Amino acid sequence: MTASITGQDNPYIIGVPIDEPEFFFGREDLFRFIKDNLKQNAKVILLHGQRRIGKSSVLLQVHNFVQLEEFLFVFLSLEGKSRKPVSDVLYEIASEILEYLEDEFELQVDGVRIPSKKDLQKEQGLFSEVFLGQIFEVIDGKNLVLLLDEFDVFGEHSQDTASTHLFPYLKSLIDQQKKLFIIPVVGRRLDDMPNLLGLFHEAPNLRIGLLQKPNAERLITKPVQGVLEYQSDAIQAIMELSAGHPYFTQIICFVLFSKAREEERSLITREDVENVVDKAIEIGEVGLAWFYDGLPIPERVVFSAVAEAQQVATGKAELVVEDPLTVLRKYGVIQTKSLVQAGGRLAGWGFVDLLEVSDAKLRSQL
Ligand SMILES: Nc1ncnc2c1ncn2[C@@H]1O[C@H](COP(=O)(O)OP(=O)(O)OP(=O)(O)O)[C@@H](O)[C@H]1O
Ligand SMILES: [Mg+2]
Repeated sequence: MTASITGQDNPYIIGVPIDEPEFFFGREDLFRFIKDNLKQNAKVILLHGQRRIGKSSVLLQVHNFVQLEEFLFVFLSLEGKSRKPVSDVLYEIASEILEYLEDEFELQVDGVRIPSKKDLQKEQGLFSEVFLGQIFEVIDGKNLVLLLDEFDVFGEHSQDTASTHLFPYLKSLIDQQKKLFIIPVVGRRLDDMPNLLGLFHEAPNLRIGLLQKPNAERLITKPVQGVLEYQSDAIQAIMELSAGHPYFTQIICFVLFSKAREEERSLITREDVENVVDKAIEIGEVGLAWFYDGLPIPERVVFSAVAEAQQVATGKAELVVEDPLTVLRKYGVIQTKSLVQAGGRLAGWGFVDLLEVSDAKLRSQL
């Protein structure tokens, strides 16, 4: 039995991090990884993943899916903080921790004093000695886990900015404070970040990748249960286009929902999916540009070559797409080691694949 789709809100979420657990799908393995490592007292757990893969959403959901009595999770966004002086960033982090404890856990934080930016500039240690000391009292001796959302470490590393000094300081803090843990998430490969790896070389780390098939299927069907039905071939078509990338899956479904509502239909077929590809690409344009810009340069070159090879194959209605490195050779590009490695890495991340032409349409246009 399906209810009428007319007048229903579009339940797919595109672009903003998912903060409602019922709209969040998958990542069970990641939460298990976090739980196991925290239980073994891992003070730092590093997570990493490409643009728009769901990094912020994972951090926002940790407290819903990792249930550990003795741990209290605080989400902090480090966005826009990398060029500020460390003292300013510590001040901001302290204010955000207080706000979070009050809003999310309804803890009484009125009496907690944050050292001024000036004092922190003179003596960084006040953050730990004065501020954290009070926080551990407020949270009644529990462990404090700071979930640190993307720290934009790119850009110039001028002398006093947080980009160079914050993580070394955090490292010394967690060495010092037995009950302090951090889970930083970074938007690129860890081996691009020698700084972090050097500091936390023993830290367990995990990549946030594509959603597994059953979870991507739930993302497609569950938000519209009882309102809109997907034929299994339609689900397959969405999977072929998005490969389980949660953002691209949401975009396709968002467009399908809008169209079904407009036409007052309650069933989605493979043909419907194929008909909305262009619209989905249009809507996702900003995300797609970010996706591309977020790749390291050798990966971008290989990715463009894959797109070119796919376009050529589509034009000739061939089922086999030429090897991107062969395409590059035709343009006179020398096969350097970094290009060969880039190809392997793109495949390893699940971003390129040897697919049939029809499978590759969305990805060829990225
Ligand atoms: N687990 C999930 N369940 C459902 N949708 C998801 C999930 N993860 C990501 N998404 C989709 O991807 C979009 C981007 O998610 P999010 O902002 O968490 O990614 P991000 O990796 O932090 O992105 P950015 O690189 O821009 O910081 C969401 O708006 C949603 O459409
Ligand atoms: Mg994010």
